[in-house]
Parts: sequence; structure tokens; C-alpha cells
Amino acid sequence: MKSLDHVAIIMDGNGRWAQMRSRPRTYGHIKGARVAKKIITCAADMGLKHLTLYTFSSDNWLRPKDEVNFLMTLLERYLKKESHNLYKKNIRFTTIGQTEKLPNSIQRSIAYTKNLTSGCTGLEVCFAISYGSKQEIISAVKKIASAVKDNQLDLADIDEDQFSQSLMTTGRPDPDFVIRTSGEYRLSNFLMWQCAYSELFFTDILWPDFTENQFTSICKSYFS
Ligand code: FPP
Repeated sequence: MKSLDHVAIIMDGNGRWAQMRSRPRTYGHIKGARVAKKIITCAADMGLKHLTLYTFSSDNWLRPKDEVNFLMTLLERYLKKESHNLYKKNIRFTTIGQTEKLPNSIQRSIAYTKNLTSGCTGLEVCFAISYGSKQEIISAVKKIASAVKDNQLDLADIDEDQFSQSLMTTGRPDPDFVIRTSGEYRLSNFLMWQCAYSELFFTDILWPDFTENQFTSICKSYFS
């Protein structure tokens, strides 16, 4: 029987949504953060076990400084406002990505939220922040190569399991279902190893327009 435990979402289209309304891109990000909050609650209520959200890619660092700063502020605001709500809803907050590149105050908010929710047993919501799949794979290769060099690992013992354990997602199941909004048909450096067998769903809806109803009906479509 097919089961849906892990959904991963590429939340895309904030900028276009705002531009279509002649508003700055930041307006789309504000609306996008609100939608993310709703979808997290919806996923928890559905009884989903894992939700991974592509919140800030390693490529997003290349955006104009003002936009990067704005996204950072939004993330920090989200964590400060939502950590206790996540705890109350029994949602465990985790991250993947090079979070050491984030401003210190955000790193502290992340650590606080992770720590606060570490005992929660409902949904795990994982924010991919400063995340890139190619970087993740290179870092896994380096870890393995160095273990081989130090004679802690035999070349013959490198297999898929061993490799998975060297990735940032170690210990979590791979996504069953990946949803991407905004009509782009690609993975954009998101969980490329982990999505080898995932089903993919692309919708033209721009992320700020995405609703709980659309999310639940897309999740239902996974079983048909
Ligand atoms: C893509 O829109 C969106 C991102 C940069 C990542 C997702 C960020 C959010 C939903 C806001 C922050 C979220 C939280 C939870 C604090 P885009 O700017 O690439 O849109 P475009 O492709 O139309 O330009």
C-alpha cells in the first residue's frame, strides 16, 4: 500500500505574484511566508509525518542585497513569532543547509526553535535554508573520502546507505512527493539524491495563491 509520509515543497512564484500586482517582490515574500505558515498547520492536521520546505536556496544569496536582507528578516520574524505555536501544535522544527552562513541572530533563533520543539512527536517541518543539493553532495563526498583516507572506512563499504547517511537529511525518509508551484518544471538543486524515486507534482499556481485546499487535494492525488 502506498503511503504518504514526506512531502517536500519548492515554494516558488512570490516575486511574479507581487510584480503582477505592481508591488515590490518583498510583498510577495510576506504573503509567501503567511502561506507557508498555513500549509505547515494543514500538514500537521492531516497527520503528515515530514514536510520539507525550500525556504532559501544557496543560489538565493546571489539576489540583490536588499532582497536577501528582507528574506532574512522575514525568516527571523517567522521563527520568533511561531516557535511557541509550533511547540503547542507538537511540530518539530529542523533545518538542512549551510545555516552557518546565516546572520548570528537567525542562527540563535533556529537553535532556540529546534531546542524548544525537539521533543515534539507530530509533524517534523524541515526548512531547507542556504541549501543546495550539489553542495550537500560534495560535502558528503568529502566526508566519505576523508574517512577512507583515515582508514575509518573501507572503499568496498561505500554504498547507497552509507552515502545517504553522509547527507544533511540523514535519519529522515526520502520525500514521497515533491510539489513545485509557479509553473517551473525543474528541481532547482533541491534534494536531488533524495528525490530519485519521489513523485513530482507541478502546478501553475504561484506560491502566495496556494491554499490549504489545493495542498490537501494535491496530496490526495498522490494516491490516485
Ligand atoms: C520563491 O519566490 C521564493 C523563495 C525565495 C523561497 C521561499 C520563501 C518564502 C515562502 C518566504 C519566506 C518563508 C518563511 C517561512 C519565512 P521567487 O522570489 O523565486 O519568485 P519568482 O520566481 O516569481 O521570482
